[in-house]
Amino acid sequence: MKTVNSITELRSVLKSFRDKGLTIGFVPTMGNLHQGHLSLIDAAKHHADVIVASIFVNPMQFGVNEDIDNYPRTLEQDQTKLIAANVDVLFTPTPEIVYPKGLDKQTFVEVPGLSGSYCGESRKGHFRGVTTIVCKLFNLVQPDIACFGLKDFQQVQMIQTMVEDLSMPIQIVPVATKREVSGLAMSSRNSYLTATEKQQATHLYQTLQWVKHRLSESQDFEHIEMIARSKIDASGMRTDYIDICNAKTLEPATVEDKELVVLAAAHCGKARLIDNIQIELN
Ligand code: PAF
Repeated sequence: MKTVNSITELRSVLKSFRDKGLTIGFVPTMGNLHQGHLSLIDAAKHHADVIVASIFVNPMQFGVNEDIDNYPRTLEQDQTKLIAANVDVLFTPTPEIVYPKGLDKQTFVEVPGLSGSYCGESRKGHFRGVTTIVCKLFNLVQPDIACFGLKDFQQVQMIQTMVEDLSMPIQIVPVATKREVSGLAMSSRNSYLTATEKQQATHLYQTLQWVKHRLSESQDFEHIEMIARSKIDASGMRTDYIDICNAKTLEPATVEDKELVVLAAAHCGKARLIDNIQIELN
C-alpha cells in the first residue's frame, strides 16, 4: 500500500492506474478503523480494480463544542489494517493541504432541505462540512465508485443527492451496518464508552427493533416515537431524536408510505451515537 499526503503525489499515483484502464473504488474515512470500515473496503473490491482509502478528520464537519480534539487518531494501527485488507493507496492529507485558505474562506457544498434536519438540526453545519469534504475528495480521487456505511443513513442520502444534483460520474455504494454481537452499531465513537455505557448503548438498536415490531401492528407514528424515546431515556441514555421517516425522502412518514426508515440519535456518556433500521410494510 502506498501512503500519500500530497495532492500532486495522489494525482500522479492514480493517473498511473487510470492509464492502465483500471477502475477506482474509494472509501473515505476519518480513521480509527473498525470492522465497519473494513466491510466498506470489501464492498469496494467487488466494484473496482484499485482501492483508495482516505483518512482525514475533517474539521469542517465538527461543531464548536464537539469532539474534534479528542477524536481517536490511530494512524499506525489503521495502516496495518489497510495493508492487511489489500488497499492500494491511502491518502492522509493535513487540514492545511485540504483547506489552505482556512475554513472561513473555503467554498462549500450544501444539499438544501435535509441538511438542517435530524443530525443536521442537532449538529448545525455538520452536513455542509460532510458534503464539502466528500465533494473535494471526489475531485481529488475521481473514483468510479465510492462506498459509505448505512449507519450514517442521512449522510448516504445527502451524498447521493449531491452526486445526482451535481452530475458527478460516481456510483455510490451503500453498505449495511456492521454490528457487535450485542447489536450495537460499530462506530469509532464507541471507544468513548465505558463498559457500563456500552451495555446501555445496546438499548438504541433494541428500541429500533421494538419500533419495527410495533409498526407491524400500528401506524400511530407519534405515539410509537414517544414510547421509543422514553425507552431510550429509561436505559440511561439521553435521546436526541427518534423519527419514523419515508426511506426515500426522509420526510416524516405518512400512512401511505411502505418503505420506512427509523432514524435515531442518543447521547451515552461522552458519546453521541446514531443508528437506524429500515422497514418494509406490506
Ligand atoms: O462517515 C465519515 O467517516 C465521514 O463523515 C466522511 C464521509 C469520511 C467525511 O469526512
